[in-house]
Amino acid sequence: MTQLDELEFDNVQIDQHGPIAVLTINRPRALNALNADTLSEIAQAVNMIIEDAEVGALIITGSGEKAFVAGADISEFGDLEGVYDGRELALAGQDVMHQISSLPIPVIAAINGYALGGGLELALACDVRVASTGARLGLPETGLGLIPGFGGTQRLPRLIGTGRALDLILTARQVRADEALGMGLVNYVADNALTKAREVAEAMLKNAPIAVSLVKEAVRRGMDTTLEGGLEIEADLFGMTVATKDFREGVDAFLNKRPAEFQGE
Ligand code: COA
Repeated sequence: MTQLDELEFDNVQIDQHGPIAVLTINRPRALNALNADTLSEIAQAVNMIIEDAEVGALIITGSGEKAFVAGADISEFGDLEGVYDGRELALAGQDVMHQISSLPIPVIAAINGYALGGGLELALACDVRVASTGARLGLPETGLGLIPGFGGTQRLPRLIGTGRALDLILTARQVRADEALGMGLVNYVADNALTKAREVAEAMLKNAPIAVSLVKEAVRRGMDTTLEGGLEIEADLFGMTVATKDFREGVDAFLNKRPAEFQGE
């Protein structure tokens, strides 16, 4: 089988270190802006990563020190001619963000610089966000006469609340990493976002993979339903974890005061 880090893309790079895959958006000349080709390559890369049973966590980052992703590629906006084109672009971006947000493994955004527009929306599709000290985050679309179209109007309020989300979107202002941390927009701030993201991934990888995956499913499905419906989902998925070998292993390891060795079964 082809090794993940042997795959060749123009605008995306994959590196694999043991169970951690790092997907780097690599268009530094345009501050890693998401043009159509890059979006399509991200989708292909994510498909390949998920087929690799060795990979237990994915980190998404941007190349260089300046930008994570500075948004959708504005130079391609001139080709958009009307309602239909705009809707198609939004749906194409939303598909890729949905593909990422529904992965069964933890996905961490290592925000190493500007995360604007589609860049912040990409980070919002990840499970956890780590920002470098100098990162700047924002949804500047209204300043371009647009609204966020890759999930920003939906995922941002779900993450930080309606009032904060509307403030950020309507002012189109950029927030610094420390402010983003204060409002829960990012989980961690570190001098080196990628190093910290690896630490977070390693902590997650110590836990039972099926349980980790089902937590993601419970949270994701639960956010789209009522509390009552969400609790039913939780009970069903809890039941599934009780049927795993890893549950037996976790309990046995605790009772025998030894580290658990999970097999993902
Ligand atoms: N789409 C296409 N190209 C982009 C881009 C984007 N979203 N963001 C940056 N670039 C390009 C610039 O056009 C420039 O290219 P050039 O060297 O060929 O002129 C290059 O990346 C460097 O950007 P520049 O603007 O010169 O850097 P800066 O340090 O002065 O400013 C930003 C950095 C991020 C503040 C600024 O680039 C910016 O505002 N980008 C657009 C952000 C945005 O509105 N995103 C949402 C799109 S919906």
